[in-house]
Amino acid sequence: MSELKVLFIGDIIGKPGRRAVKDKLPSLIKEHVPHLVIANGENSAGGFGITPDIVRELLGFGIDIITTGNHVWDKKEIVGFIDNDNRILRPANFPPGVPGYGYTVCSSRKGMVGVINLQGRVFMNPLDCPFRTALDIIEKMKDETKVILIDFHGEATSEKNAMALFLDGRVSGIIGTHTHVQTADERILPKGTAYITDVGMTGALQSVIGIKMEQALRRFLTQMPQKFQIENKDMRLMGAVLSIDASSGKAYNIKRLNITLN
Ligand SMILES: [Fe+2]
Ligand SMILES: [Fe+2]
Repeated sequence: MSELKVLFIGDIIGKPGRRAVKDKLPSLIKEHVPHLVIANGENSAGGFGITPDIVRELLGFGIDIITTGNHVWDKKEIVGFIDNDNRILRPANFPPGVPGYGYTVCSSRKGMVGVINLQGRVFMNPLDCPFRTALDIIEKMKDETKVILIDFHGEATSEKNAMALFLDGRVSGIIGTHTHVQTADERILPKGTAYITDVGMTGALQSVIGIKMEQALRRFLTQMPQKFQIENKDMRLMGAVLSIDASSGKAYNIKRLNITLN
């Protein structure tokens, strides 16, 4: 059996999140020796969106594929850029005609790997069906590779669980993102798909999903708009490492990461 390892890093929140990745990724790569590094970058520009410069910065740290989600368009500069580089993805079930790529097949030292970005519809903006979109893309990819990873960016644990059971055995891994709160349910499903409902974030633990707590609390208490800043104390890098049989595409291990940075 030939092991293909994937390191997935949860939503990188602003500059403190980027600094955490810069500081910690080299030692994580040394320790786990992943063949592919995927990270969600939808909050990497000041907590809201991503810019072309930050795409280049994250790729320069050693991230191979950047996924996103509902915040992908928050920085307008990305709109004109996203068609130029299929190493940054936006959810594949966005409306037809929007810029960017929803999936890609990239090469790793252990062969080709498919990566699909999807977004949920429960407690989120309406989009095309993520379940049917997933099936269509898997069908397109299946002649190129059996190793397929999905970043399913969703709010509801039920929807992410349902997707995992729907796609068990059809993909190598389904990694949930978006809530920024890590769940402890990582496991290998019966037909060989690695799954975690939410991998968490790369951001400050004592914050409201990465935002300074005083500002977020003021918003909750007053319902008034607030300036949001990114908390930079008590940083965590959250993610997961998946071990996949490169020839069958079946996963056999998923390890959750929750690393404290000084
Ligand atoms: Fe996020
Ligand atoms: Fe999100």
